Amino acid sequence: MAGFMQPIAVAGFDDWRAAARELIVRRVPPESVQWTAPGGGGDLFGAVAGPAPAPGAADQPAASVNQGAACVAAASVSAAPALPAPRVPRELMDLLQRAACYRADDRWAFLYKILWRWQQGQREVMSMADEDGSRLHGMARAVRREEHDMHAYLRFRERPAGEGEPRFVAWFEPAHDVLPQVARHFAERMGRTTWLIATPDATVLWDGAALHTTGPLAHGAADIEDEGEALWLTYYRSIFNPARLNPDVMHSHVRSRFWKNMPEGALVPDMVSQAAAGARRVGQASAVGRRSGTTIPIAAEKAQPERQQPHTLDECRRCELWEHATQAVPGEGAKKARIMLVGEQPGDQEDLQGHPFVGPAGTLLDRALAQAGIERSKVYVTNAVKHFKWEPRGKRRLHKTPAQKEILACHYWLEGELEHVAPQVVVALGSTALKAVLEDSHAALKDYMDQPVQHAGRWVVATYHPAYVLRVPGADEKARALAAMVAALRAAAKIAYE
Ligand code: URA
Repeated sequence: MAGFMQPIAVAGFDDWRAAARELIVRRVPPESVQWTAPGGGGDLFGAVAGPAPAPGAADQPAASVNQGAACVAAASVSAAPALPAPRVPRELMDLLQRAACYRADDRWAFLYKILWRWQQGQREVMSMADEDGSRLHGMARAVRREEHDMHAYLRFRERPAGEGEPRFVAWFEPAHDVLPQVARHFAERMGRTTWLIATPDATVLWDGAALHTTGPLAHGAADIEDEGEALWLTYYRSIFNPARLNPDVMHSHVRSRFWKNMPEGALVPDMVSQAAAGARRVGQASAVGRRSGTTIPIAAEKAQPERQQPHTLDECRRCELWEHATQAVPGEGAKKARIMLVGEQPGDQEDLQGHPFVGPAGTLLDRALAQAGIERSKVYVTNAVKHFKWEPRGKRRLHKTPAQKEILACHYWLEGELEHVAPQVVVALGSTALKAVLEDSHAALKDYMDQPVQHAGRWVVATYHPAYVLRVPGADEKARALAAMVAALRAAAKIAYE
């Protein structure tokens, strides 16, 4: 096989898919293929391609489909009979397509390895517990995040547009190859308003009807003029409320690499230091109070099409746990429940399904609730930490106890839930939950068992975590732990309903 190993040039996902399909049919294993980008570089924008072609796109056609196919033919001489064309589930194809936008030198080789393993019947290759599967999900997640970030932090600046020139321009430095799909996103939302987005690798122009992709601007960011910026800065300065300023949170929401290309970024250090120096004002700046909305020449929603709020749980980056979790798992249940149950963090099943306590611990919890005469639909169930923290053990993902800094980072969300649900009683299931609920990193379960306490205006009842009941050895000990849980739940119900 080695004698036939020739590089296969791939300019984008469609190229890769065509070549990979051919290779699979010819039974060419991953180690017999060498993938390159046209010209030898790793840059997808050599011939711009991406997961979603822009509407009416005038992108250059992918340059190397034929070249790739020719190489495939050369590389694939094999005595074995050809296989039928692979059938790949939509979910895997979507993952591959998204991961293809992740900048990594070996991306095409890696994606082919995934496809090959799938074709060999190794279904676990799609699982987060599989080493390759975990990397694949991580790549797709990083790309999705980059898309979100580009939607949220790209700033269009209005400029006096000459004939055929775009009205809005923006500069952005994406970490992955997300420009095509982001351009499509803006094209779908900005109607006939013309704009141009420049990046270090490529430039996309929307002429009001079609997208046109070209190479980078000659002088990069310096080519982006800035007529509307002063207006935007005035607006931003006015709505900035130092009384609500928390620089750490601000920086965790908007990572520093974006600040430099956001006009308001230049204002931030000064405003932070003013706030720290005591220039605290309550509510909106007085300048805004005097202004009527119509006197602000650039409406915020125009300057920031579809700005996404970075503080939704899905986009939480307050700690690192999001990186290896499938999704954040929010609390759920009765909106104004009298009882809130707080667990530690989602487990494997919860992480995959996106709901709290739906795995084995959830089954045990349901049993304890039933014995205590409490309907699950009447309570609110959540966790101290909203992302699954785990470590691989063979093909399994083993739960890892969250660190105090993760409990603290996530307290922001628990606090929000406590405020909205306003329960009379909080049942802390296990030690992590207790620490979070009491906001005391030294709180020990044994000191609070069988002894409801008041904290922050509500009752807190502490008991075992259902997982403890499941794993404690010995039938007697298990029965004792379950009985203690049931008793604690009954105590909570008594406080809440009597
Ligand atoms: N363990 C928890 O603490 N919470 C869940 O949601 C599931 C298991």
